[in-house]
Amino acid sequence: MTEGSSLIRGLEGVVAAETRLCDLDGANGRLAYWGYDIDDLARRATFEEVAYLLWAGELPTRAELDGFQAELIGVRPVPRELLQAFALMPTTTDPMRVLQAAVAILGMHDPDTTDNSREANLRKALRLTSQLATAMCAHHRIRNGRDPVTPAKDLGHAANFLYMLTGERPSPVTTKAFDASLTLYAEHEMNASTFTTRVITSTQSDMHSAVAGGVGALKGPLHGGAGEAVMRTLMEISEVANVDRFADHALASKRRLMGFGHRVYRAGDPRAAILRGLAEEACRQSGQFKWYEMAVRLHERIKGAKGLIPNVDFYSAPLFYSLGIPVDLFTPVIAAARVAGWTANIIEQHADNRLIRPRGDYKGPGRRTWVPQDKR
Ligand code: CMC
Repeated sequence: MTEGSSLIRGLEGVVAAETRLCDLDGANGRLAYWGYDIDDLARRATFEEVAYLLWAGELPTRAELDGFQAELIGVRPVPRELLQAFALMPTTTDPMRVLQAAVAILGMHDPDTTDNSREANLRKALRLTSQLATAMCAHHRIRNGRDPVTPAKDLGHAANFLYMLTGERPSPVTTKAFDASLTLYAEHEMNASTFTTRVITSTQSDMHSAVAGGVGALKGPLHGGAGEAVMRTLMEISEVANVDRFADHALASKRRLMGFGHRVYRAGDPRAAILRGLAEEACRQSGQFKWYEMAVRLHERIKGAKGLIPNVDFYSAPLFYSLGIPVDLFTPVIAAARVAGWTANIIEQHADNRLIRPRGDYKGPGRRTWVPQDKR
C-alpha cells in the first residue's frame, strides 16, 4: 500500500464507528449504556430492561417492560430441528462451536432472516437474545444424555436461563447475581466480537451471519474465552497457599495471565469491581470461598508486581463456578449476554452503513517473473 495511513497494530486507539450505545471511559474506568452508569444498571435493572435500553435507547416503562418480557418469553422455544441437530453433534465438541452452528441454524428457521430493515432486525434481536439461552442449555442437557428443560413461562430471563441449565429454580440471590452478570456482559463498545459483527454487517449481510461471526471472535482466550481460562488457572493453583508460588513463577516466566489487562481501561475495569462483590457473596454461599480468596490473592500479587488490572473475566470465573455453571459454558453464557449488544450494534451499523474495508501494508517480495512448474 502506498496511499492512506500507516499501520496501527491491533487498531489500538482507532475510532471505527460512531455509537450511542456505549460510553467507555478507559482513563477513568467508567462505563455507561445510553448514558446510564453500569453500576446502576447492574444493581437495579434486569437484563430484560438492559436489552430494551440497548435496542430502544430508553429504559422501558412498567407497561413497556411487561409487554417486552411477554414477547421474550413467547419466543423462548427453539425449533425442533435445532434440538435434532444437537443430538447429532459430537458430545466432546466445544460448546462455542455448537453455539456458532446454532446461530446459523436459527437463521435458517427465522422468518425475517434476510430482511435487514430496522423492524425485522428488532424482531430478530429479540428472538436471538431469548433463544441463545435456550439453545445453549438444551445442547448442554443433550450432550449429557438428558432431555432439554422446557422454558418456564413464569420466570424472568436470568432465572429461566439457570433453570433450563440445571432443571432447578434458582434462589433470588443466585438469580440477581446472574442477572447482573448478564447486564455487565451485555455491551462493550468496539470490542473484537462486536467489531466483527459490524464488519459483517457492513457488507449488508444479515443479523444471524453477523452474530455467528461474533460468537467465533468471542471464543478466543484473549477475548471472552478468558473467563474459562481464569477458572482453569485457579484450578491449576488449587489452594490459597499455592497462589504466591504460582504468581512468582508466572511472573518470572512472563506467562500471560488470563483475566488481567485491558486494551482500553487504564484505571481499572468497572465491571470487575462489581463482579468481585458478586463473586464474594456467591463463593461464600456455595461453601467454596477458597476460589474467591485465591482470586483476591492473585489479583493483589499481579497488580502489585506488574500493575495489571483484573478485567471483567477475572471475577466472573469464581462467580460463575459458584453458581454451578460448567466451566466450558462460561464463554457461551457471555455470548448469550453479549448478543444484546451485538444486535444493537448491528442495528446501529445498518442505520449508518459504509463498507468496512481497511488496507494492508504489503511487506512481501517485489514483482517477480513467472516460473513454469518444471523450472521451480
Ligand atoms: N499477562 C501478562 N502480561 C500482560 C497481560 C497479561 N494478561 N496483559 C498485558 N500484558 C503485558 C504484555 O506482555 C505487554 O508487555 P510488554 O509491553 O512488556 O510486551 C503489555 O502488557 C501490553 O500488552 P498487550 O498484549 O500489547 O496489550 P493489548 O492491549 O494488545 O492486549 C489483552 C490486551 C486483554 C489482550 C491482554 O491484556 C491480555 O492478553 N490479557 C489476558 C487475556 C484476557 O484476560 N482477555 C480478556 C480481555 S477483557 C474481556 C474481553 O475482551 O472479553
